[in-house]
Amino acid sequence: MKIQKSLFLLLFFAVSCTKNDIPTCVDDVALFSLADFPIGVAVSPFELESNSAYRQIVVEQFNRITPGNVFKPDALQPLENDFSFEIADSLVAFANANGKQIHGHTLLWHNQLPSWMNNFSGNRDEWISMMETHIKTVVAHFGNQVKSWDVVNEAFEDNGDFRANIWYQNIGEEYLKLAFELAHEANPDAILFYNDFNIAAKPKKCEAILNHFKKLKNEGVPVHGIGLQLHIFNATPSENKIENAVKAIVNEGFQVHFSEIDISMNLSGGNMQLTDNKLQKQGERMKLLTDIFQNIPENQQFGMTIWGVSDLDSWIPSFFGREDYPLLYDENYEPKPMYCGFLEGLTER
Ligand code: GLA
Repeated sequence: MKIQKSLFLLLFFAVSCTKNDIPTCVDDVALFSLADFPIGVAVSPFELESNSAYRQIVVEQFNRITPGNVFKPDALQPLENDFSFEIADSLVAFANANGKQIHGHTLLWHNQLPSWMNNFSGNRDEWISMMETHIKTVVAHFGNQVKSWDVVNEAFEDNGDFRANIWYQNIGEEYLKLAFELAHEANPDAILFYNDFNIAAKPKKCEAILNHFKKLKNEGVPVHGIGLQLHIFNATPSENKIENAVKAIVNEGFQVHFSEIDISMNLSGGNMQLTDNKLQKQGERMKLLTDIFQNIPENQQFGMTIWGVSDLDSWIPSFFGREDYPLLYDENYEPKPMYCGFLEGLTER
């Protein structure tokens, strides 16, 4: 690994040029071959099937995949007790055929639930039993083909309050503990995560999450890691804030997943000018994230996952209604300075 890294470093600087001061680089060496931890990407099985440029990048650059949507409750249990695994299984087959790990995302959330689940009526025990059926059926179905899971996604508000989602309203805060226990019963080998956004940007949220999961861990509940989504901007949150959040999580002994990385440039919304300066900043931010991640003790480095392949595939422009370019590859599937920043962060150590 060491020799490969230094050879690559030479090559990297040989092909880098400073035209307009924007780093340029080629992507003919796999990102994952340069890292001592898994490098993941969120994927869509539909793109994998229909878009060869997209598929080639996923196959060549990454060694872990997170299903962007097809493992969510609306996809897997569209009707009550009527599970639909065909598309998810095709993604697992793709992963197996290409030697990629799969990170399961996500068992419980407040979004992308089937309408029957949103409208479920029952007493607390019936809610728990409905939750149990979903978690156990899904986790058991994939068995050890899916070795890690986001068990609960986004259960806290930015101010540290519990989010009043359907699980909280009908079961109370104990749903978090139960969800992890149920997932663990269904697959005792799986690494189980709590995943959320703004963990670095909102210290109160980070504190509330850590207090809660520290308490559960001390009680023996099988929660192994915290996923920081890291949907961030070129300028915010600050380096300090990201480092502080990561340190706090590391100090509690959890594994750390940078689980949904994208770096937006357009803070003010609407249209924007795509400048060399913004592209360069984005590359520097990606390098910073890579440096911060690699400072985590090795046994707590779960991996870094990018939330999509190219700017064309990002959820951000359509979701927020703003022009943006948040990912490693441009719309022609060429590597951007953000890719170069990742590469530099991985090779410079
Ligand atoms: C959240 C979820 C992801 C995805 C993104 C938007 O971060 O965790 O699954 O839906 O929003 O694409």
